[in-house]
Amino acid sequence: MSLKIQISQIQAEVESTMLTDAQSVENFRIHYLGRKGIVNDLFELFKQVPNEEKKEVGQLMNGLKQAIQIKLDSGQNQFASKSKQIEIPDATRSHGDWPFGSRHPLQLVREEILGIFSKMGFSVEDGPEIEDDWHVFSGLNFSPEHPARDMQDTFFVNGQPDTVLRTHTSSVQVRVMETQKPPIRIVMPGRVYRNEAISSRAHCQFHQIEGLYIDEGVSFADMKQVLQLFTEAFFGKAKIRLRPSYFPFTEPSAEMDVYWGLETPADHRITKGTGWLEIMGCGMVDPNVLAASGIDPEKYSGFAFGMGIERIAMLRYGIDDLRHFFENDMRFLSQFRKSL
Ligand code: PHE
Repeated sequence: MSLKIQISQIQAEVESTMLTDAQSVENFRIHYLGRKGIVNDLFELFKQVPNEEKKEVGQLMNGLKQAIQIKLDSGQNQFASKSKQIEIPDATRSHGDWPFGSRHPLQLVREEILGIFSKMGFSVEDGPEIEDDWHVFSGLNFSPEHPARDMQDTFFVNGQPDTVLRTHTSSVQVRVMETQKPPIRIVMPGRVYRNEAISSRAHCQFHQIEGLYIDEGVSFADMKQVLQLFTEAFFGKAKIRLRPSYFPFTEPSAEMDVYWGLETPADHRITKGTGWLEIMGCGMVDPNVLAASGIDPEKYSGFAFGMGIERIAMLRYGIDDLRHFFENDMRFLSQFRKSL
């Protein structure tokens, strides 16, 4: 049978089909326009039509398709269920009721901390997360036997002893001191890695913000003043203390605690009943570190500090489990929408 005759038979069939309800409309649609429907079959056959007939047969087929579509449209209009009608998209509708996303709490805290230091004249610097031993350890006065280099703490890339994931943002200090002349007044936010799977709560990746200030005559008192101003601006708490500590790259070194208070049961819990909370490590840059980066320790001095952003964000928002930061649970994240 020629394709032309088939088309006219189908045309007649379409015209005589009675559409009586929504189901018959849907059956009609599937029968003629479905993926395995008659129209698709015809288009398959059309490929074999000799070229000189293609134009004529093509027009007939298009006419048929149109007739089917018109019948289908009128059937759908007549029998469509209510919900179908509502689904007709309204191109004039505004999309204002779509929810906006929110910024991640770690990012909010990071921005706020950087903002406070930028008001004090610190600029932001960046450095690579994949580093060499020099910038993470040796240039920072870590002796060859220092335990921080141990496999337990450091991720080595491809097992190469000189290629590591940085364990702290102090590596950026070295990079900046190697390339810039004092005065240097910078803050360095970034992601750091430690191989510390002590418990399921521990995380191998977290964030730090590092600070560095080097100039002539910079003193421990300057450091204390800057950290005091930061604590007041960020936490709204005025009392800090510096406890002696040890870092290979600072001398003297300290931990800075802030007096959190003991007013609520939560205060008692997070400060373990002491009222004090440890916030960051800090100290005067060791002269060996200055010299290793080509800065004259006879002429210049400076201080450095470093803090974990997760810990600060937990304190700021009263978050009790580190894992919330990495699980991307919308119920958690959407709580920070208001802080935009
Ligand atoms: N790098 C230290 C750490 O990761 C923090 C620190 C930075 C301490 C700068 C002193 C000065 O624990």
